[in-house]
Amino acid sequence: MRKHWYDQQTIYQIYPKSFNDSNHDGIGDIPGITAKIPYLKQLGITTIWLNPIYQSPQVDNGYDVSDYYQVDSSLGTMTDVETLIKTVYEHGMYLIFDFVLNHTSDQHPWFKQALADPQSKYRDYYLWQDPAADGGRPNNWGSFFGGSVWAKDPAGGSQYYFHLFDKRMPDLNWKNPAVQQAMRDVAEFWVEKGIDGLRLDAFIHLAKADFRQTYPNRTGDSTPIISDMFYAHLPKVHQYLHDFVAVIKAKHPDTYVVGEASSADPHLMVDYTTPGTDECDQVITFRTFADDNTQDDPSFSDTFQPRPMDVTAYKQNTVGIQAALADTSLPTLYWNNHDMARVATRYGDPDYPQASAKALATALYLQRGIPIIYYGEELGLTNIRYHDIADFEDQTVPTFVASAQAAGKSKVEIMRMLNQTHKMAGRGPMQWDNTVYHGFSDHLPWKHGDTDDMNAQAEIADPDSIYHYYQQLLQLKQCAPFTNGQFIMLGSAEQLFTYLIDDGQKQAAIVCNLSAQAQTYLLPFVGGKVLLVQGGATYRGRQVTLPAWSSLVVKSA
Ligand code: GLC
Ligand code: CA
Repeated sequence: MRKHWYDQQTIYQIYPKSFNDSNHDGIGDIPGITAKIPYLKQLGITTIWLNPIYQSPQVDNGYDVSDYYQVDSSLGTMTDVETLIKTVYEHGMYLIFDFVLNHTSDQHPWFKQALADPQSKYRDYYLWQDPAADGGRPNNWGSFFGGSVWAKDPAGGSQYYFHLFDKRMPDLNWKNPAVQQAMRDVAEFWVEKGIDGLRLDAFIHLAKADFRQTYPNRTGDSTPIISDMFYAHLPKVHQYLHDFVAVIKAKHPDTYVVGEASSADPHLMVDYTTPGTDECDQVITFRTFADDNTQDDPSFSDTFQPRPMDVTAYKQNTVGIQAALADTSLPTLYWNNHDMARVATRYGDPDYPQASAKALATALYLQRGIPIIYYGEELGLTNIRYHDIADFEDQTVPTFVASAQAAGKSKVEIMRMLNQTHKMAGRGPMQWDNTVYHGFSDHLPWKHGDTDDMNAQAEIADPDSIYHYYQQLLQLKQCAPFTNGQFIMLGSAEQLFTYLIDDGQKQAAIVCNLSAQAQTYLLPFVGGKVLLVQGGATYRGRQVTLPAWSSLVVKSA
């Protein structure tokens, strides 16, 4: 099955604004990224994924694009991007761009034209609907960013336009062939420029159902409610996706396409990645994650209440995905991204920060699939702690705050919960060294707050660091049986994560203790060689002894 460059890669996700500032304005930028390519190469990264860098009013940090052919001036110039592409290439690495095709910014000239002149062809680039019989919104479908998907025509017309995310991010009308063509042209432009692949943002939402439908509820009121059945994974998505990808791959067969399919279950993952259908090479689902909600406080909103990992449910989700994709495509393996809290904060153990970071990485990245490492994760970076709720830039936060306050929670307690769970707390500046602002910039960073004292320079100097462990793990991933092995989940106690990778010739057992309690485990085979060990794990014959958060990788003889 391994026939493309992207079948054997390790991806590193960079949130451009927060990686490295080269021009002293507190905002990370493209030249800043270029300067750190050698660091990434050293770590063992093969592919870099950049969150959107196109011109944008930054309502949603770049996911609201106002010009797909320009680089946002806060991040650099087209020449800077060309230098980055060249530098990545010279290091034998690959570069993929986020590609936002479901919506644009309301500042995009298409939308401005659609408003200024309802007769213009651009009106039909977006989704419009007449008001309901009572003059209100066309239906009760809810936006992912809170409230309704409908906003009134700002130019004073009677119609509403559709926005699945922020109201300043109107959805494109993919039924319109001109929209399909326009988005293919954008992709073509960047692929011609030399990028190696696309991460398709929110592609599962490209098709929408008939707008006259309501999501029924018991009270019959029209409060907006998330209605996935009307705008996620509709059959038409396959058609749009195929038509888009097939054209790009016909000209540039080596282009890698990884789709963000946040709510895809294993069967949908198979459908989107079946070889020969020219859809995605891989997808990223959020369905691996499983949190234990039994400790939730029922007296207020659960949206941002921190939860421990439900290890058993996580293992079940993993098995479901691994089994479904075994003969189809490679799963993507990730612990965090820009849409969630950092793994060190979410699942790491503050009493064992080093060992827990290493154990979690071992449990995941040796599985069959493509690792995607979120910038700073290789250091064990935790969430930034903000002091002000405005820092979360999220209109759903005030509702949570009000509900928690009504339940008697203090401001400190509320901030603690938000800082622990919110995606914005996972987007803090990278920490490079121990100079001012951790070497990210010499200017106050665009996002700032309290952070833990750790940095790349110190970890590179320390052979026991999380950084060096990641380096070893990624090297190991390049060797048999991991390059071509099947994933086999092994049975174990609840807090252990244990599996076998088997390529038909060699087997490796991966045994991880995801808890602070010591554990023991019986290996499925005797002997062999230890490939990687941390946290004080030992073994004798078949018996493995695992102190808190330790892990062991051992090969059969
Ligand atoms: C994707 C992105 C997210 C963004 C949304 C809208 O889910 O990962 O960050 O807000 O799409 O573009
Ligand atoms: Ca800058």
